[in-house]
Amino acid sequence: MVRVGVDENLAPELLADFPAEAEIVRLPRTIPQPVPIDFWILPFYRKDAATAFQQLREVKVAQSLMAGVDWVLPWLPPAVTLCDGRGIHDISASEWVLAAIMATMKRIPLYRDLQNQQQWRGFASVTDGFLSEPGPARGQYTVLADDLSGKTVLIVGYGSIGAAIEARLAPFGVNILRIARSARPQPPVSAIADLHALLPLADIVVLIVPLTDATRGLIRAPELALMRPGALLVNAARGPVVDTDALVAALQQHRIRAAVDVTDPEPLPAGHPLWSAPNCLITPHIGGSTPQFIHRAFRFAAQQLRRYIAGQPLENIVTGAGY
Ligand SMILES: NC(=O)c1ccc[n+]([C@@H]2O[C@H](COP(=O)([O-])OP(=O)(O)OC[C@H]3O[C@@H](n4cnc5c(N)ncnc54)[C@H](OP(=O)(O)O)[C@@H]3O)[C@@H](O)[C@H]2O)c1
Repeated sequence: MVRVGVDENLAPELLADFPAEAEIVRLPRTIPQPVPIDFWILPFYRKDAATAFQQLREVKVAQSLMAGVDWVLPWLPPAVTLCDGRGIHDISASEWVLAAIMATMKRIPLYRDLQNQQQWRGFASVTDGFLSEPGPARGQYTVLADDLSGKTVLIVGYGSIGAAIEARLAPFGVNILRIARSARPQPPVSAIADLHALLPLADIVVLIVPLTDATRGLIRAPELALMRPGALLVNAARGPVVDTDALVAALQQHRIRAAVDVTDPEPLPAGHPLWSAPNCLITPHIGGSTPQFIHRAFRFAAQQLRRYIAGQPLENIVTGAGY
């Protein structure tokens, strides 16, 4: 039997796919005494996970059900094989990115604000001051929203979710630019060294990189200054990938727009200037979280367990030897 540590409150139906060889060990939030397990399914983004780990013994594999493991790497010993949740967030996170882009193109946050004030007013008569674009009026015609079609979208972090974003953008007739750590052909992906060259070409810049030493502060004032006037910065990655002060300044100067699911700090405290920065849509790190996602996540965990039990190589190994 393989001892599998899961949160004590985990719904039993999520364990339906788990192999019979898995002995489920339910772990309370505060673990009172040392518990031996082989395979740990990490609690979601819980700050007390590091404390919980102190009470675990004999852990060989720690399986995160989140794509990003920046919150685990600082405290998990390298002897434990860490696997991330690459792939299981593709649908939910890419759909969030599409929703954020479309909401911004169609000015949905603005119109929702007006709805709350019971005001039937078009963008043209709303003096929010975002005048970096050519102007809401074109001759006799009043512009009330924007097309996504024809825009250039730069995906910074062309990995699992990045490719899912591209697939969902494809029917809209956009031009896609891609960046990863290193360049590759088919489809053409540029190296991160080309970031400064590509930023001025994009109407929409989507950040979907992991948070690492290399990506922390990837977007600061110089990068924001390279963005087109009125361009949209979408951060679905991690808050610290963007310098928050620089973002607030760029928004307050009405140079760019932003749609962010992640912030630095997180949660964003009441009174923080990002809350009220113009042309900024904020959601509280919900991009990956849907009811369907949790089932995908535990099906993936069950597959990993089966691989582990069969002595096959695990997928999504971030650190450690693997099995
Ligand atoms: N908002 C949310 O709720 C939410 C949900 C899910 C995920 N996320 C975030 O999204 C991140 C990406 O997830 P994923 O599943 O798509 O990961 P992934 O498949 O590992 O892809 C990551 C991509 O980022 C690129 N990258 C890594 N370091 C880079 C750097 N220094 N410069 C440029 N590109 C770099 C990688 O380049 P190579 O291909 O060259 O290696 C890869 O293309 C996660 O780590 C997480 O932080 C957020």
